[in-house]
Amino acid sequence: MKLTLKIWRQENANAKGKMVTYPIDGVEGDMSFLEMLDVLNEDLINKGEEPVEFDHDCREGICGACSLQINGEPHGPDKLVTTCQLHMRSFKDGDTIVIEPFRAKAFPVVKDLIVDRGAFDRIQQAGGYVSVNTSGNTIDANSIPVNKHDADDSFAAATCIGCGACVAACKNASAMLFTSAKVSQYALLPQGQVEATERVQNMVRQMDLEGFGNCSNTGACEIECPKGISLENIARMNREYMSATSKG
Ligand code: SF4
Ligand code: FES
Repeated sequence: MKLTLKIWRQENANAKGKMVTYPIDGVEGDMSFLEMLDVLNEDLINKGEEPVEFDHDCREGICGACSLQINGEPHGPDKLVTTCQLHMRSFKDGDTIVIEPFRAKAFPVVKDLIVDRGAFDRIQQAGGYVSVNTSGNTIDANSIPVNKHDADDSFAAATCIGCGACVAACKNASAMLFTSAKVSQYALLPQGQVEATERVQNMVRQMDLEGFGNCSNTGACEIECPKGISLENIARMNREYMSATSKG
C-alpha cells in the first residue's frame, strides 16, 4: 500500500507544532500501526531527518503507552483495540491518515506524538490502592468471600490500562471514566471498604486539580475505550462520592 501520512510534529512542550506530510510506500496489511511508523522512522533516519517520536512499550494492548489520535479517533478506527493492536489492513491503498497526539490541557505534548500522562499517575497515587499491614498476620485475600457478580465487575474495572483515550474522546477532556474505573475496582470489594471514604474524595479532588473537565454524559469515552470500560463505573463513582461527602 501507498499512503500519505499527515503527522503532528512539535519540538517540545513550548514549541509551536505543525502538521507535516510524509508519503510512505510498501505498507503491508499485516503490519501493526506502530510497525508502519517504525518503517517511516527508518526511512527518515536513513535520509538524515529527525524521526517521529511516539510512545510505546508492550505493543500488546497492556501498558496503555501507545496513545495516538488517528483520523480524529483515539486508537484509530477499530473498536476495543489499542494503537499497537491496530493493523494496517484497516486502511486501504491511497488513504491519507492524520496522526496527532491526544489533545487535552492536562496531557501536555512532550514531543511530536508523545504526551505527558503524569496526571493519571497522580490521580492513582491520590487513592488508587489498598493499604494493608504486611508486617505479619496478613489475612489471605481468598479467606474473604466476594460475590461473583461484584468480583467480575471489579475485575472488568481493573482492566483499565490508563491509556487516556477516554480523555481524548471527550469534548470536555474529562477523566471520569479512568478515575471511576480505578475507584470502582476497590469499591466493589470488601478489601476496598476501609479507605473508601477518603479514596473517592482524594481521587476526585486530584482529578479536578489536574484540570480535566466534567462529565456531561455524552458517552464518547465508553465508545473509544480499548478495554470496554463501562459508563456504569462513573455512576458508581458519583454514588460513592455523594455517600463519602455526606459522611463528611
Ligand atoms: S477508561 Fe479506557 S480509555 Fe480511559 S484510560 Fe482506562 S482503558 Fe484507557
Ligand atoms: S504499546 Fe502497550 S498498549 Fe500499546
